[in-house]
Amino acid sequence: MNSLANDISGSTPHALPSLGVVLVAAGRGERLGAGAPKAFVELHGRALLEFGIGVVTSLPHTGHLVVVAPESHAALALEIVDQVLPQESPWEVSVVHGGRERHESVRFGLEALPESVETVLVHDAARPFASAELFERVLAEVVRTGDAVVPALPVVDTLKRVDEDGIVHETVDRATLVAVQTPQGFVRETLAAAHATAQIQRENDAPTDDAEVVQRAGARVRTIEGEQRAHKLTTPADLAILEHFLTENLLGREAAPAGSHGASL
Ligand code: C5P
Repeated sequence: MNSLANDISGSTPHALPSLGVVLVAAGRGERLGAGAPKAFVELHGRALLEFGIGVVTSLPHTGHLVVVAPESHAALALEIVDQVLPQESPWEVSVVHGGRERHESVRFGLEALPESVETVLVHDAARPFASAELFERVLAEVVRTGDAVVPALPVVDTLKRVDEDGIVHETVDRATLVAVQTPQGFVRETLAAAHATAQIQRENDAPTDDAEVVQRAGARVRTIEGEQRAHKLTTPADLAILEHFLTENLLGREAAPAGSHGASL
C-alpha cells in the first residue's frame, strides 16, 4: 500500500487527512456488451479506471482512495494503480472486491476506509472525465453544509410516463427534474449508517445511487451544478461521446498520460 507522505516536494496538499474516496468499478457492464467490465474498457489504450484514479489522486489533499473492482479484475486494478500513482503521492490507495449490486460495492468500499475518514466522495469509474474541479466543488459543499451533495444537470428532453407496453400515460413536468451524476459527497457517518441500515427489500428496489441510500434514511440531499463531461459509459453510444471528449481535447491536462509507481492490496 502506498503510504501517506508528510513532506511532498513540489506541491503542498491541503491539510484534509479525513478525506476518503470510493471509486466503484465492479459493475459487469452488461448493457455495454464490451466483453469486459466497463471500468476496464479502454479509450485510446487506457482503461476508464485509469482516468478515474488519475483525477482523484490529482486532488490536492492527503486522502484514502478505495478502488472497488470485480474479483476477476482486482489484480489488473492494482496494476493500474501502480501505473498511475506517482511515488510521492500523498494518496493511500487500496483495492477491494465488489458486490452484486452497486450499493453493495459502495458498502464494501466504505468498510475499507480507515476510521479517521470523516468526509467521503463516491464516484463511478464509468464517469472517467468528471473534473477535479467538480470533485472540489462537491467536497466544499459537504464541508460547508454537512448535507449530502450531488452534481445535477437539468433534463432537456420531454419526459413521458409509460407502461410496460410503451403506451404513454402522461407527460412529466421536467421543470422540477434533474439528472444526477457522481462524485457524490457525504459526511462519512451519515453514508455508512445509511448503507448499514438500508432496507433493500426487493431485487428491483435496489438504490442506483448513494444519494438515494441516505435519502431513504432521512438525510437531506443537496444538488450543485453538474457537468457534461462527467458523462457515464452505459451503452456503446456513450463510448463515442467519451471518445469525443478525448479527441477534441476538451479535458485539459487531467487526461494527460499517467505517472508511475507503487501500490498494493
Ligand atoms: O451500472 P451502473 O452504470 O449504474 O454503474 C455505475 C458504477 O457502479 C460503475 O462505475 C460500475 O462499475 C459500478 N458498479 C459496481 N458494482 C456493481 C455495479 C456497478 O461497482 N455491482
